[in-house]
Amino acid sequence: MTKLRLGVLASGRGSNLQSIIDACSVGNLPAEVAVVISDYGEAYALKRAQLSHIPAVFVDPNTFGSREDYDTAVVEVLQTYDVELVCLAGYMRLVSRKMLAAYPNKILNIHPALLPSFPGLHAQRQALEYGVKFSGCTVHFVDEGTDTGPIILQAAVPVLEGDTEDSLAARILEQEHRLYPEAIRLYALGKLVLNGRKVSVIK
Ligand code: GRF
Repeated sequence: MTKLRLGVLASGRGSNLQSIIDACSVGNLPAEVAVVISDYGEAYALKRAQLSHIPAVFVDPNTFGSREDYDTAVVEVLQTYDVELVCLAGYMRLVSRKMLAAYPNKILNIHPALLPSFPGLHAQRQALEYGVKFSGCTVHFVDEGTDTGPIILQAAVPVLEGDTEDSLAARILEQEHRLYPEAIRLYALGKLVLNGRKVSVIK
């Protein structure tokens, strides 16, 4: 079976990247990580890629004048590695129209809240401060907004008495590591149908 070529964009520790690499290597995900790109040279995600013998590329934002120019450079790298699906995994930059045009409906993101609640930064803190009883994570297609694209999969976790930002984040992260590879698997198998902002999963 031909494998879907993934490009993972990550700015930080890369635990979601790792869950994708692991799912690809055990063979239940018909995909492979073709390249990992970061906007932060010290990102542990780059190290994880190297440890798995995956090309790891740092594209330095400081050497570009605009978001579009930066994304043009990132798209060049993605295209060099024949990437078919872009997965944002803890990527701290907003993608510009350049990237959306190069990969229309082919960019996924994972967010640590049940969207549309608590988009943007510090989603777990937002959930705790609001006082919700459940939070979770969402895998969605990326559009021009911040965490606003069509929702593919969600998983809920309870918010427990005495939770801290860290304890809630850890509970959510466990679900993220399951949910993201599953969403990529559904995409790779052609089981996601996008209709407006609704995503159906074909059985
Ligand atoms: C995750 O919580 C993800 O949902 C959010 O950023 C965090 C990245 O964690 N977008 P990691 O770098 O994958 O460990």
